[in-house]
Amino acid sequence: MLYYRDKGKGKTIVFLHGFLENSRMWRFFQNKLSKKYRVISIDLPGHGRSSKKTNEVNRMEDMAKKVNKVLEHLKIDEVIISGHSMGGYVALAFAEQYKYKVSGLGLFYSTTLPDDDIKKEQRLKAAEVVVKNPKEFFRLSIPNLFAPQNVPKLQSEIKTAIKWAKHASLTGISAALKGMRLRKDRTDVVRDLGKPIFIIIGKYDNAIKNSELIKKMEGVKKLSIYELETGHMGALEAPEECLEILQTWLKQNYK
Ligand code: MLT
Repeated sequence: MLYYRDKGKGKTIVFLHGFLENSRMWRFFQNKLSKKYRVISIDLPGHGRSSKKTNEVNRMEDMAKKVNKVLEHLKIDEVIISGHSMGGYVALAFAEQYKYKVSGLGLFYSTTLPDDDIKKEQRLKAAEVVVKNPKEFFRLSIPNLFAPQNVPKLQSEIKTAIKWAKHASLTGISAALKGMRLRKDRTDVVRDLGKPIFIIIGKYDNAIKNSELIKKMEGVKKLSIYELETGHMGALEAPEECLEILQTWLKQNYK
C-alpha cells in the first residue's frame, strides 16, 4: 500500500503531491487544517516513501486506484480530493472512477487538459535524461518551476524541492513521466462533478497553460478560480496565501 500521513478528525481532505514531490510538501497545510478537518496526504507510486516498487508506466488512473486502496484501508468513503499538478491529474482520475466518493475537488497548478504533441515528446526525452543524470535534471528543471522573481529569495525552498526529488526512485520518475504523457482530457470530469471545485493558478507558471484551462472551465458550476503571483510551486512560494484560499473555500462550501 502507498505510504500516507493521516491527521485530524472531521470532514476528510486528501492532498496528492506533484511530480518529484512527496507528502511532506503538505506538512504546513496538514498541520493547520487538521485542527478542523481530517487531512490525509499520500506518497504517490515511485515517490517519497512509496518509491520502492513501481511499474514501468504509472498511469493516472492506476495511481488513483492505489489512492482508493488507502481510503478503503482507512474506511473512508467520502473525500475532498485535491492535488498539485501531477497530483491534480490523479485527483481528476480519482473523481472519474469514484465520483460517488467525491464531495469536492481541488487543483493546485494543474489542468484537466492532456499533453500536446510537443509535451509528449518532451516527456520521453525527460524520461531518458533523468535516468542518466538525475542530479543535473533536478538542478536544471526545478528552479524553473518557481516564478523568476522568487528564485533569488527562495533558494532554500528550491533546495527543499530538489531534496524531495531525490526521494523518488528513478524508475518511479520515468514511470510518472510516461503516465502523465498518456493522460486523457478530463475536462468533462470537472464539468459533470456537480460538487464544489477550486483551482489555484500561478501567474508565472510555465508548466500549465492557464488561459486554455480557464477557457475550458467556462460555465462550470460551483467552481472557484484563484490566481496567485507565483510560478508552479505555490505551496512553497506562497504557502500562507494558499492556506487562506483553502480555508475560505472550505468555509464557504462546507458549513
Ligand atoms: C508536476 O509538477 O507535477 C509536473 O510539472 C506536472 C507536469 O509536468 O505536467
